[in-house]
Amino acid sequence: MTKVEVPLGERAYDVVIDPGILCKAAELYTSVIPGKKALLVSDQTVYHLYGAGVSAALAAAGIELAVYTFPPGEASKSLYTYEQILNAAAAFQLTNSDAFLALGGGVTGDLTGFAAATYHRGIRFVQMPTTLLAMVDSSVGGKTGVNLAAGKNLAGAFWQPRLVLCDPLLLRTLPPEQYADGLAECLKYGVLWDEVLFAQLERGALFQVTERQIARCVELKRDVVLRDERDKGQRQLLNLGHTIGHAIEQASGFAIGHGAAVGLGMLMIAGLFCPEISGRIRRALRENGLPTEWDGSREDIARALLQDKKRAGDAIDLVIPLRIGACELRRMPIGAVKNLWEEQL
Ligand code: NAD
Ligand code: GLY
Repeated sequence: MTKVEVPLGERAYDVVIDPGILCKAAELYTSVIPGKKALLVSDQTVYHLYGAGVSAALAAAGIELAVYTFPPGEASKSLYTYEQILNAAAAFQLTNSDAFLALGGGVTGDLTGFAAATYHRGIRFVQMPTTLLAMVDSSVGGKTGVNLAAGKNLAGAFWQPRLVLCDPLLLRTLPPEQYADGLAECLKYGVLWDEVLFAQLERGALFQVTERQIARCVELKRDVVLRDERDKGQRQLLNLGHTIGHAIEQASGFAIGHGAAVGLGMLMIAGLFCPEISGRIRRALRENGLPTEWDGSREDIARALLQDKKRAGDAIDLVIPLRIGACELRRMPIGAVKNLWEEQL
């Protein structure tokens, strides 16, 4: 069992990583949630796999559960599902001492967290992440929200969970492409802050990330959240690979997954600004089942760079790798970035 503390004052919480923990969740749950009722939110795939086990563990501790499930996938991260969750909570007469429980990947966590942030102007919630991406990234740090027709994550709130319970055994049922998506985020932490982690993962984890490596990623995310909870500066380093990655995701019609696209984005941004590390990033992506080539149009990416929300007037904020283990935020004239892009790729 590994515990990573997130000391955010009155919003402090623990991330507990322990194989089998979901079946013994009740003791930890009752240590942070005073109420006897919880609304368990999950997508239908995850609920089918793990809902009964979690429900039984909580019921044994006297927690009365209601369940809301929704169809899996990004399309469910909508105002419609959010409203349905709130209605389910109200119908169950959830009170301020009770909690929401998010059992699932980043979609479930973001939706449930946003519902928790706004139901009765904010009640407690617990994250039980079931994808690698959710364990190492989305369940920690308190970003919650939903997509709007105009774009991803356009409505949301900062709302920290009271507890995060990661059970690495659940990753055994994760489809390989979802696992690889999470590995791209783990590699990203290595490029940003930890060469040792990167070196461990670049040999290829054969989809067996260890409890210690999950904990290390959580520590790195925790550390940047402590420095910049509200995403005004340093936390934006987590956007490494995202500007180009989002462009690739969009241009591929979302056929390329988020993690795979971020991996390609990291590779391309390293190619532009720090070519000496490109070889290692390429190898690490390949060894972890992630793509290293994209045959789409370069113009699409140039257009996306121009439209990126990180653009400020004629400049854009980019995360630039300096070496494996160190990156910096740099504001660059948009014309200079576009020229570099056109010259070098
Ligand atoms: P997801 O929640 O859609 O899960 C991916 C798929 O895996 C789903 O089909 C789900 O049913 C399935 N699944 C989940 N756990 C499983 C398991 N253990 N076994 C078998 N199948 C399982 O997607 P995701 O990749 O976890 O998260 C992506 C979302 O996270 C995006 O909406 C993104 O915006 C968000 N995100 C949020 C943050 C944040 O800080 N809040 C950070 C990164 C990403
Ligand atoms: N995943 C981006 C963030 O938490 O800031």
